[in-house]
Amino acid sequence: MKRIIFTGKGGVGKTTILSNLARLLVRDGCKVLVIDCDPSMNLAMSLGIPMSDIVTLADDKANLQEQLGASLEDHPHTSSDQCDHHIHEFIMDAADGVKLIVMGTIPYGGAGCLCSHISLVKLLVAYLSAGPDEYDFIFIDSQAGVEIFGRGLVSEFDACVVITEPTPKSLEVAKHGTKLSRDLGVKRQIAVINKVESDDDIKASMQELNGSVDRILSMRFYRDVQEADKRGAGLLDHCPKSAALQEFSKIKECILET
Ligand SMILES: Nc1ncnc2c1ncn2[C@@H]1O[C@H](COP(=O)(O)OP(=O)(O)O)[C@@H](O)[C@H]1O
Ligand SMILES: [Mg+2]
Repeated sequence: MKRIIFTGKGGVGKTTILSNLARLLVRDGCKVLVIDCDPSMNLAMSLGIPMSDIVTLADDKANLQEQLGASLEDHPHTSSDQCDHHIHEFIMDAADGVKLIVMGTIPYGGAGCLCSHISLVKLLVAYLSAGPDEYDFIFIDSQAGVEIFGRGLVSEFDACVVITEPTPKSLEVAKHGTKLSRDLGVKRQIAVINKVESDDDIKASMQELNGSVDRILSMRFYRDVQEADKRGAGLLDHCPKSAALQEFSKIKECILET
């Protein structure tokens, strides 16, 4: 089971790229669990699940924390639906058979930080990692910026996919993210320069990222991708023959090598 974090500045395309890759991998026969750790909770919609149908880990945080902690200590599990906890109730069936878990959000102004939510996801990932491989991939979609690294959630993960636009600010956030993921022992750093509009964009960004990542990929700006988003649809549903899918497939091949 490969565990991969998707990170980068706000709006660079983390959720878009993660959701399309997850669907393409499932179409290839892989089992993929995606966990939305962004309190904006956009990932479900990108995978065809309306906001009104979402259940979140935060809805039953205290119970899950206790039960998962106890299960992890007592006995490594056999599968998540044969256990004395109810984590399976939080696993949603999304587009193409991608499995989705949503961490949850801040319920009201002044409710405090997300630390305990992120700790619960950390416990869940540890629990899933300790048992038999139920999934080929676990993808974590994170909120903008680098806060997710502070909690050590992605310690020893197999890869960090850092998405960046070809702009100085976005590249700075990307470089900082890859540094923090290296600090946590993440094995491979893959950069995707997204929304590229010229070869110069790629060249300048590659120079900037040189030495901080193991692999650099790029993805052009596609109107199809943006149109799909405007309609609240996935690219694979809105425009199944989009040229963007060739570039998603290249990124998928790189993910399969991790
Ligand atoms: N390659 C691309 N071409 C055109 N628009 C893109 C591309 N990648 C992402 N977008 C658009 O950028 C916006 C932000 O994407 P999103 O995935 O929500 O970013 P993030 O999750 O990083 O905040 C969306 O409107 C999305 O459609
Ligand atoms: Mg997002």
